[in-house]
Amino acid sequence: MTDRDQPTVDAVIAARDEGLAALQAAPDLDALDAAKRTHMGKRSTLASLQRGLGTLDDAERREVGRALNEAREALAEVEARSRQALEAERDRVQLAAEAVDVTLPPRTPPRGALHPVLETIDALLDAFTGLGYTPVTGPEVESEWHNFEALNIPADHPARGLMDTIYVQGLGAEPDQVGITPMLLRTHTSPVQARVLRTQEPPVYIVVPGRVYRSDVADATHLPAFHQIEGLAVDRSLSFADLRGTLAAAVRSLLGPDVPIRLRPHHFQFTEPSCEVDAYYDGHWMELLGAGMVPPNVLSACGIDPDAWQGFAFGMGPERLAMMRHGVTDIRQFVDGDLRFLSAQTTVSP
Ligand code: DAH
Repeated sequence: MTDRDQPTVDAVIAARDEGLAALQAAPDLDALDAAKRTHMGKRSTLASLQRGLGTLDDAERREVGRALNEAREALAEVEARSRQALEAERDRVQLAAEAVDVTLPPRTPPRGALHPVLETIDALLDAFTGLGYTPVTGPEVESEWHNFEALNIPADHPARGLMDTIYVQGLGAEPDQVGITPMLLRTHTSPVQARVLRTQEPPVYIVVPGRVYRSDVADATHLPAFHQIEGLAVDRSLSFADLRGTLAAAVRSLLGPDVPIRLRPHHFQFTEPSCEVDAYYDGHWMELLGAGMVPPNVLSACGIDPDAWQGFAFGMGPERLAMMRHGVTDIRQFVDGDLRFLSAQTTVSP
């Protein structure tokens, strides 16, 4: 036993106060456990003072023994109170960390949107299916025969040159009387006219959306790959008036009920007479599409009796329409993939 542990009331009070201060100052439960071990445990000053009681005479022992009891009670009480407070604090912190704020608005992922060209194709298909047309598709790698010959564009015709055709390697097998022909990336959706007419009995009312290719360099108004929508109607006694009415209805449903259209005479190899159709939009006439009556030799090349059936056809570029509807001035923006451009496009309705 050291001097310091000589059991006196003063020594007990000093050890008690030291212990009380440590217990009260403990910032967390670990510190409290440590303080408890130090000041209330078997190796605490109080315990060693207790062990020294035997060296005292009776009167001193009673006095110091009472002080020891009071000190232990005081320490136990303060330790219990501290523990309670620290446990409550620990629970509060944990609950706060685990809390779910049910009033927070949900995190909504950014919403995708249809590409403006696809949106325009959808709108066009809606307009034409509403008029009784059925959408069909055809191959992008097409035979020269379907792309040109079947549409009245023979090998030596200058119209072929205007198409800037991309040929692909290899040859395709074609209908019996044609045999083997070179293959190409279709320059327009018109070859699907021939495909449908050769396999389907009239009456025929189809619209053909799809991608087409030209060996053009991209600039503000041209892309080497773009879209077209072709239309073909073959029925008994169809006239140019039916063509005009059909196109006027489609343009109205696409651009608005009051948009006027005008037909200008034009030339296409696979229609006669032919025209181009403009719509008056945003203060000027905009060229929208080409169209015309299907000539008898195109019908008969596809095995259809031109005395019994008449047809009209039309073709248009959804990119151009999408530029009008979305106020886009450079067609390349449609293929840049710039999300700032794409997410700024909102769906338009006339
Ligand atoms: N195929 C033509 C082009 O690419 C567009 C076209 C014009 C299609 C007149 C037609 C039509 O069906 O009748 O320029």
